[in-house]
Amino acid sequence: MEIINANISHFDKLETTNEDNTIAVQVAQVLRQLYAFDPESTFLLDYASGPLSRNLAASTRQILGADISQGVVDSYNRLAREQGLSPDKVQAIRVQPFVPTSNTSTAPDGGIAEAANRLEEELQLAGRKFDVVLCANAYHHFPDIDLVTRLLVSVLKPDTGRLFVVDLSEYKRPHGAGHHHHGHHHAHHHPPSAGHSHDPEPFTGPTVAHTGGFTSSRIQSCFTNAGLCDFQFVDSAATAEMGGGKATFFIASGRRRE
Ligand SMILES: C[S@@+](CC[C@H](N)C(=O)[O-])C[C@H]1O[C@@H](n2cnc3c(N)ncnc32)[C@H](O)[C@@H]1O
Repeated sequence: MEIINANISHFDKLETTNEDNTIAVQVAQVLRQLYAFDPESTFLLDYASGPLSRNLAASTRQILGADISQGVVDSYNRLAREQGLSPDKVQAIRVQPFVPTSNTSTAPDGGIAEAANRLEEELQLAGRKFDVVLCANAYHHFPDIDLVTRLLVSVLKPDTGRLFVVDLSEYKRPHGAGHHHHGHHHAHHHPPSAGHSHDPEPFTGPTVAHTGGFTSSRIQSCFTNAGLCDFQFVDSAATAEMGGGKATFFIASGRRRE
């Protein structure tokens, strides 16, 4: 809960007037190649909302944003209006954070059913499900990415709904041999240092639950366990200068099986 509260207070204060759209523009371009968006029908959820979904507005019928920070929700909606998008087309809503009741290994449910019901109510879905759920640059903030993935899958249309996750690809560490760790990487922190100019640490601090980026296999196991199939992974969908080096962003996608 501590990390979730750190995120709420950090993102509530963040000034997004001069939002940097660079990554969002690159990722939106690749997403349009990966998925047949239909401006007449595609219903999209942007969980942890940001510029990426607004870049996809012309390709979708309706976008709902969900975020735990009222500040992010307000900026998202203001920027959508400035872009000429009406609330019935694009609208973010503040939602309660999903706080897992226990960890993935010990709980078959982990509080997902309750969280899914609450999310459906908060978004006033009345039984509607999403064609696409998008979650960009937020997985590194989530204490338990397996449980969040299962929550996101629960609001997707069975058989056809697709989840897209964007986040930082695993850093190429010059001295990183043997550091391909799974599960215990919270404890490993590699601050940027001289001589590691290609080893950026763009996301650090009290809001970050996972440093070091994610491997394709970590995300794939997360997706598979959550009931997704047709896994796709674009390792380098976007790049940006961050933290004194080049950061590379992946797009992972999977289809809800049933
Ligand atoms: C780095 S921003 C990314 C925003 C946007 N998707 C983008 O790509 O620019 C991270 C977002 O995750 C949200 N967030 C952090 N922790 C969260 C949590 N536990 N549940 C839902 N959203 C969370 C923050 O409020 C913030 O809007």
